[in-house]
Amino acid sequence: MMDILVVGSGGREHAICRRLRQSPSTGKLYCAPGNTGIAADAECVNIGVSELDKLADFAVSHKIGLTVVGPEVPLCEGITDVFMARGLNIFGPAKAAAALEGSKTFAKKFMQKYNIPTAAAEFFTDEKNALEYVDKLFADGAKGAVVKADGLAAGKGVIVALDKENAIRGVKECFGGNFGKAGTKILIEECLFGEEASILALTDGKTIIPLASSQDHKRLLDDDQGPNTGGMGAYSPAPVVTPELQKTVNEEVLNRFLKGIQAENLFFRGVIYAGVMVTERGPKVLEFNVRFGDPETQAILIRLESDLAEVMLKTATGRLNEVELNWYKDPAVCVVMASGGYPEDYKKGYEISGLKEAEETGAAVFHAGTSLKDGKVVNTGGRVLGVTARGSDISEAVKNAYKAVSKIHWQDCFYRKDIAAKAISRLK
Ligand code: AMP
Ligand code: GLY
Repeated sequence: MMDILVVGSGGREHAICRRLRQSPSTGKLYCAPGNTGIAADAECVNIGVSELDKLADFAVSHKIGLTVVGPEVPLCEGITDVFMARGLNIFGPAKAAAALEGSKTFAKKFMQKYNIPTAAAEFFTDEKNALEYVDKLFADGAKGAVVKADGLAAGKGVIVALDKENAIRGVKECFGGNFGKAGTKILIEECLFGEEASILALTDGKTIIPLASSQDHKRLLDDDQGPNTGGMGAYSPAPVVTPELQKTVNEEVLNRFLKGIQAENLFFRGVIYAGVMVTERGPKVLEFNVRFGDPETQAILIRLESDLAEVMLKTATGRLNEVELNWYKDPAVCVVMASGGYPEDYKKGYEISGLKEAEETGAAVFHAGTSLKDGKVVNTGGRVLGVTARGSDISEAVKNAYKAVSKIHWQDCFYRKDIAAKAISRLK
């Protein structure tokens, strides 16, 4: 048994804490800073995710056997380097490797060097050259272009333009300072068409093991309409990832990724997440993230049968070759409930009712943006809850998740009604 610290405060961290709490090898479980929902599964500690030294001090003073990092920000700030220097076990890549998420230029060059299939791209630090390139692309008949600001821009900073006018606007937004420092370096890449899937894999730098496939729902509204969000729902497995496609991804993405981090001496013990577009020309990587996806993790971990604490410890200590992952066959669906107005401004502080009734249906209600006010649970974030359920097939899982959703209410709450509809139509 070991005591574990989870770093983060979203639905993803709640799903990780829930699964860790169920692991026979977990002793005391802490989460920094956690949230109101996580407090039912772990002891919340009032330290922020970027307070790296304070987190390490806590791990030392509480004899923490393993720290698990949820979000990308502390990884890009070097939390793993700080913990390693103090001899602490930590699940998450070192700062230099986290640049695979923190810098889109670095990631693209890595993919090009190690022959990982991805969209063709050009790099720019000058607005005039970038605009000339856009001109040339569309003159040559491109059906679109994607403009990406270089650094972490909290899910923003990517403009998918289906015509020249929007591409020009994207370039001007980046250089105009809309994404801060992230926008002073940009890439412009080929626009890919197809269905997206999330491929997550565990690696300790020597072995790489894919997790169950999943799919996110990035757009706000049904039928993939409306603006991009942090993710409005997810399901696992994703039928678009056929066994044949998974084999191609293992060979062309995961194995080449492993070779690349070895050749570049990038220290990586954690989870690598490839956002993949399944095109007519095969799978292409849109982005790398160096952490678990949110909300995909809610749907993935609820299907994991293996002891998560042991799996994570072995990953963090370079013994992933000893791990064999077992999964429940039942698919899982996560429906995100958001505050009305999200991803723009929204009102906070409304009391949320029906949480207990929702869990009594057998679903898991993961908290992302809630707080306690006068003893009542209220909404305080854009994405508020991730209501997650399994079922004997995907339709059953959808039914179970929405049944739980129907029990929950607060003023102006909002959710998509078509989570996993793509999976269902693919299986028909
Ligand atoms: P990224 O942060 O790079 O994953 O981009 C965010 C979203 O933009 C992705 O999930 C895709 O929906 C879209 N996207 C990114 N790159 C491309 C591309 N080359 N072609 C089409 N869509 C893209
Ligand atoms: N689900 C998208 C992300 O975690 O980045």
